[in-house]
Amino acid sequence: MQGKVAIVTGASRGIGKAIALGLAAHGAAVVVAARSESPPHERLPGTIYETVAAIEAAGGRALPVRCDVTDEASVSAMVEKTLAEFGRIDVLVNNAAVDFPSPLVDMPLKRWEIVLKVDLTGPFLCTRAVLPAMMEHRRGSIINITSQAGSERGGKTVGYSAAYAAAKAGLDRLTWATAVEVEEYGIAVNGLKPAGIVDSEGMRMWASEEERKQFVPPDTMVACALFLARQDARTLTGMVATDEEYVARYGLVVPSVGGTDPGSGSRRAAGSADSR
Ligand SMILES: NC(=O)c1ccc[n+]([C@@H]2O[C@H](COP(=O)([O-])OP(=O)(O)OC[C@H]3O[C@@H](n4cnc5c(N)ncnc54)[C@H](OP(=O)(O)O)[C@@H]3O)[C@@H](O)[C@H]2O)c1
Repeated sequence: MQGKVAIVTGASRGIGKAIALGLAAHGAAVVVAARSESPPHERLPGTIYETVAAIEAAGGRALPVRCDVTDEASVSAMVEKTLAEFGRIDVLVNNAAVDFPSPLVDMPLKRWEIVLKVDLTGPFLCTRAVLPAMMEHRRGSIINITSQAGSERGGKTVGYSAAYAAAKAGLDRLTWATAVEVEEYGIAVNGLKPAGIVDSEGMRMWASEEERKQFVPPDTMVACALFLARQDARTLTGMVATDEEYVARYGLVVPSVGGTDPGSGSRRAAGSADSR
């Protein structure tokens, strides 16, 4: 990834932070794009500055950019800052997402709308904003972080998460549609979803002690994101699969990235638990 520039949305914590650290460790300059300049809640740590500090402490290069992916002007400004600082965009990881589980019968319209806006409109806005730079270079890789909730017909990943499931199903289709449209420009567009429940600050906030025991570290997601970041439309595009499926199909090696914090990774992912 030396000389490449990657934008990772939702990189203030969780899987996004782990992917940002992974891309930077392999030489990419990384734009850490999210809203938190200070922790939004005492039980929800993580800021764009902390991720950048972790990348720089490991010898990498990163730029913190406050960005709300639901806000067209904020997304445009983030892409402009990226081009002003680094002059190019090679990789976009559409990772930012929210879920507010609630029975459908009680779900306020506002809650439905915010989930759709962050999880589906956000990736659309970010993709649309980076495409001109990628099309000019006739190369690039867009990675949409999706979920089994968008493809499973039943089970606990979709219960009480109708908006999240609908948004992620939409993101899978957005992945396919975009891949077709930009193939002639050499740009890869692929979807990546966790096979297990990945340890993240967001997941930890809601989970019981018992549920946390099933969490897996983000190592496999990071390895797959690195693999997908290196693709273009000639090598792999239009694929939507779990991290375990990418590992099995392409024989990927999943190094442990050390530590227990989801930003720095930990043991190899077991991938045996159900994902949301
Ligand atoms: N963890 C899992 O087991 C699991 C399973 C299936 C799919 N996924 C997917 O993996 C991705 C990461 O999940 P996670 O568990 O790491 O989540 P997380 O810990 O809750 O982190 C979510 C990230 O999204 C950012 N974000 C939320 N709203 C945003 C907005 N409007 N604009 C910009 N950034 C925003 C947050 O940053 P700010 O608050 O700072 O903006 C945060 O960095 C998501 O796409 C999720 O759907 C995760």
